[in-house]
Amino acid sequence: MRTSLATLLLWSVAVVIAKDCPIADTSIIAHSGTPVGTEQVVDGVTFYISQAKCKAPKAAVVYLTDVFGIQLPENKLLADSFARAGYLTVAPDLFNGTPAPADLNDPSFNTTDFLSRHGPDVTDPIIAKAVTYLRSISSVKKVAATGYCYGGRYAFRFVAPGRGVDVAFAAHPSLLEDGEILAVGGGVSVAAAETDSMMPPARRAQIEALLANTTVPYQVSLYSGTQHGFGVRANISDLEQKFGKESAFFQAVRWFDYWLA
Ligand SMILES: *[C@@H]1O[C@H](CO)[C@@H](O)[C@H](O)[C@H]1NC(C)=O
Ligand SMILES: *[C@@H]1O[C@H](CO)[C@@H](O)[C@H](O)[C@H]1NC(C)=O
Ligand SMILES: *[C@@H]1O[C@H](CO)[C@@H](O)[C@H](O)[C@H]1NC(C)=O
Repeated sequence: MRTSLATLLLWSVAVVIAKDCPIADTSIIAHSGTPVGTEQVVDGVTFYISQAKCKAPKAAVVYLTDVFGIQLPENKLLADSFARAGYLTVAPDLFNGTPAPADLNDPSFNTTDFLSRHGPDVTDPIIAKAVTYLRSISSVKKVAATGYCYGGRYAFRFVAPGRGVDVAFAAHPSLLEDGEILAVGGGVSVAAAETDSMMPPARRAQIEALLANTTVPYQVSLYSGTQHGFGVRANISDLEQKFGKESAFFQAVRWFDYWLA
């Protein structure tokens, strides 16, 4: 009798919790394993789509990758983690099937050439298609952008007024321009690495000063023991890097949950 009452109580608690997402804890982060989303071509662009878990998706996340693209398993797995946090998540293929190689020092890879072929003139229209797709889903009322390295700059670009993104998170953004920071129209949260030649301490201070000159809410968090790229490609055997990657993810989720509520 006692056991069945306890079971019944546990069961009712579980039913109540199942209506909404559990408090985000590390169980929703996948560092390895098989991605659970699907790929779909929409208007000529391949989207990696991860369906929201545990609540009707009132909000969506457009996930903007680093130069390794949606082809990198860690990017798909992190997109899945946002889906487990309750967000319909779409990561557009920013490089049309040809991202940078895993080893950027590969002699056949020309970084200058790659970046010149993937400037805002080419990348903005790809991201705009993902935002349009998300906005076409009737239950989706708000859209957040999350971006990493290369994609971090575009999270800023798309939170400018009229571009369809309400709030943004960027981890170790690269190539970010002052004007793009000053143009934001929604809140921005930034995760910074301790060691980052693309965003060294002096640049981080400038970014903070520029954000302070906007009228939007903002946040800049620095994680010890991390390097450029840690938001996606941390060495999770290293306790400081693992903490940084997981905390940057929760930083984004908390930012979205709070400002999109
Ligand atoms: C890399 O690409 C740039 C721009 O396309 C070009 O000017 C340069 O010569 C290339 N470098 C090498 C080593 O091929
Ligand atoms: C912020 O605005 C003040 C007042 O307009 C200006 O003096 C300052 O240079 C600005 N700082 C940055 C980093 O843009
Ligand atoms: C990852 O971190 C562990 C623990 O600090 C270290 O032993 C290992 O060499 C690191 N791996 C790489 C590829 O840096």
